Amino acid sequence: MARRIVLTSGKGGVGKTTVCAALGLALARKRKRTLLVDADFGLNNLDVALGMETRVVYDIHDVAEGRCGLSDALIEDSSYRELKLLPSVRCDCARLSKNALASVLARLDDDFDFVLIDCPAGIDEGFHRAVCVADEALVVTTPHPGAIRDADRALTLLGTYPLHAVGVVVNRVRGDLVMDGRSLSAAEIAEALGHPAMAYVPEDDAVAVCGQTGAEMPYAPSTRAIAMLADNLTDGGRKLYDCTYNYRGVLGRLKMYLRRQI
Ligand SMILES: Nc1ncnc2c1ncn2[C@@H]1O[C@H](COP(=O)(O)OP(=O)(O)OP(=O)(O)O)[C@@H](O)[C@H]1O
Ligand SMILES: [Mg+2]
Repeated sequence: MARRIVLTSGKGGVGKTTVCAALGLALARKRKRTLLVDADFGLNNLDVALGMETRVVYDIHDVAEGRCGLSDALIEDSSYRELKLLPSVRCDCARLSKNALASVLARLDDDFDFVLIDCPAGIDEGFHRAVCVADEALVVTTPHPGAIRDADRALTLLGTYPLHAVGVVVNRVRGDLVMDGRSLSAAEIAEALGHPAMAYVPEDDAVAVCGQTGAEMPYAPSTRAIAMLADNLTDGGRKLYDCTYNYRGVLGRLKMYLRRQI
């Protein structure tokens, strides 16, 4: 029986899809059979984040409406056979009901260890549809005050669902600003949100480079932070990436100084 985890945020553009794709890859590297479901039916782009957009033939709507079988719609990652995507490519938010989504996922539960559900931004119909088919949730936020406030609202709503676990992912943390005292630290943000921190992910140029070239960067800071998240999910630990690590000591201070000049 798969663990179904929804990635949600409240605020848009904080990195749900990016974290979902990277976490899928990290779990697949650990040989966990992982399905990524694009439940952002309006502005779907999980296929793009995974570099699979040219391979989409059928999507979740086709499966739900019986135009194809499940295996016709699933796309396997070219490097990791454990990782599959159930894409959504139509821009038709309203058509697929909660029940239809639930019945598609029920047919997949036995074939996967993890099902990661990429939720749309906001807290309206798409949020509820994605959350009601999940057992666990990860709320993604950035250090931006607006993102933190929306994450708090999402967490309040998640409290009305019978979820087994709800954790926080603080994304796009600028270690240099934290060291300077100009940004809240990831730990302060997680503490303010009152839920266990599952990952601290640094701001990382590798995210954009990987997104454009499709190259894997196993030693990039964000990749390492997400690998820790995969470990935390599989072994119940609480390893968290230290986003300020690169800005410590003499060299770190020099890096901070140079960043300030740009
Ligand atoms: N850790 C990071 N470092 C640098 N850039 C990042 C990081 N995480 C995400 N981004 C960038 O932030 C942008 C938004 O990311 P993404 O599309 O994953 O957000 P989202 O929450 O899914 O957005 P939406 O609410 O529209 O679905 C993308 O350009 C992505 O490359
Ligand atoms: Mg998204």
